[in-house]
Amino acid sequence: MSDVRPVTVIVLAAGAGTRMKSRTSKLLHPIGGRTLIGHALAAAEGIEPDRVVAVTGHDREQVEAHIAEIAPDAATAVQQEQNGTGHAVRCGLTALPEQPSGTVVVTYGDVPLLEAATVRAFVGDHQAGGRDVSVLTAEVDDPTGYGRIVRDSHGAVSRIVEQKDATDAERAIREINSGIFAFDAAYLVAALARIGTDNAQGEMYLTDVVEIARADERVVGAYVLDDVWQTEGVNNRVQLATLGAELNRRTLRRWMLDGVTVVDPDATWVDVTVRLAPDVTLLPGVQLHGATEVASGATIGPDTTLTDVTIGERAQVVRTHGSGAVIGAGATVGPFAYLRPGTSLGDGAKIGTYVETKQATIGDGAKVPHLSYVGDATVGDHTNIGAGTIFANYDGMNKHRTTVGRHCKTGSNNVFVAPVTIGDGAATGGGTTVRDDVPPGALAVSAGPQRNIDGWVFKRRAGTPAADAAGAAAAGSADVVHTDSAATSDEE
Ligand code: UD1
Ligand code: CA
Repeated sequence: MSDVRPVTVIVLAAGAGTRMKSRTSKLLHPIGGRTLIGHALAAAEGIEPDRVVAVTGHDREQVEAHIAEIAPDAATAVQQEQNGTGHAVRCGLTALPEQPSGTVVVTYGDVPLLEAATVRAFVGDHQAGGRDVSVLTAEVDDPTGYGRIVRDSHGAVSRIVEQKDATDAERAIREINSGIFAFDAAYLVAALARIGTDNAQGEMYLTDVVEIARADERVVGAYVLDDVWQTEGVNNRVQLATLGAELNRRTLRRWMLDGVTVVDPDATWVDVTVRLAPDVTLLPGVQLHGATEVASGATIGPDTTLTDVTIGERAQVVRTHGSGAVIGAGATVGPFAYLRPGTSLGDGAKIGTYVETKQATIGDGAKVPHLSYVGDATVGDHTNIGAGTIFANYDGMNKHRTTVGRHCKTGSNNVFVAPVTIGDGAATGGGTTVRDDVPPGALAVSAGPQRNIDGWVFKRRAGTPAADAAGAAAAGSADVVHTDSAATSDEE
């Protein structure tokens, strides 16, 4: 059969998730940089279906607001009361046209490791087999809690029995229902009208469609998946962490095979949305989140957390916390830097140790090496900002910008009181507080001239080690006899 039949994916997402013990819907808890429902919707959209419908119920407002944000093309259908998976799919079908055709795929919102490639292969197998009902199954070591796949003497799937309804012999079956199905749309609509609630939970089981289809002599089959992780759901936070770790292992494995060095995969966390080039090196303790992108030859870490940061070729980012920043090719950052949103560091430039930046454009080859705050600032190409400089951007009411030109050299311990502009090639002395613009090429100094009061120590600190040292220096020799005196440490 052709694979051009329209496909609708219905993602079941109405359940309560009480075992998470959270005010946040289970489906909104994240692993690998996406929420659980975000993973389910990404897998659904990955097969390029005609329609995606999410069935919502519990925590509807939260879940629907999130879906509108991350998957605006997805429709939602409401299941007011959670009367079972069969009932949930029936609610989902209300989002379909009156005469549905093609294939309906059912997935779960809380099964985050399912891959689009798997869904695509499953749907392909379902359509190629000309089946009315297909179920995705897996052989597991411990099937407790799952629906079991009951096969007939020919090995064909005859029905699915839930744990609570199963006999001891059925409970021994290790082939389980993942919950993921593919159906002929028209047949699904007809079969769902016939399922009842005569079972241990008094619910409408979607799984009953299998037995109904067999009785109708429809074509039913299973697609057995070896990769059990892809069928596992999250019910509590232990499973959230377990699946999160496995997802991370899979993400890192993919990047390593694509040429990224990950020195310690157990101590490195990379979101599924991050992009890495070959010959990137990730040192231990690195976390890369969101839309972070790292170009070839760059080294990140150790102990660095970056969210939505773009890093150029050969850059080095050491012990840094950053978000919403751009780092140029060959630039160096850290150790111990804090890059806040709107930071842009030019090629070959440097943000050094104990430096915080925010809404700061730092030019090519420019340097902010030590102990500084650079907020709401532009620093021109090849300018060097002295140690301990504060860009005072806030006057208590409003934020203002400071612009420093190209090839400037500013002294240590400066304060730039914004708004202020320092012209190209200008310089400032140590300890300068810059309140007025500095013309290009000028030297700005604001501290008063230095005054030396000769002999002050001898008069005011007589008998102290400082006075001894000064005396020795005056005598031109360091080993002058130590004048022992009942020196009092004085107070001033
Ligand atoms: C279901 C299957 C079981 C399968 C297992 C796999 C049925 C009857 N049982 O069992 O065979 O092995 O999943 O995990 O189908 N949901 C709704 N509305 C409802 C009920 C459920 O949206 O009224 C959603 C849940 O949010 C969840 C999914 O459907 O995402 C499965 O529901 P759950 O209660 O976990 O089903 P199980 O009893 O575990
Ligand atoms: Ca479940």
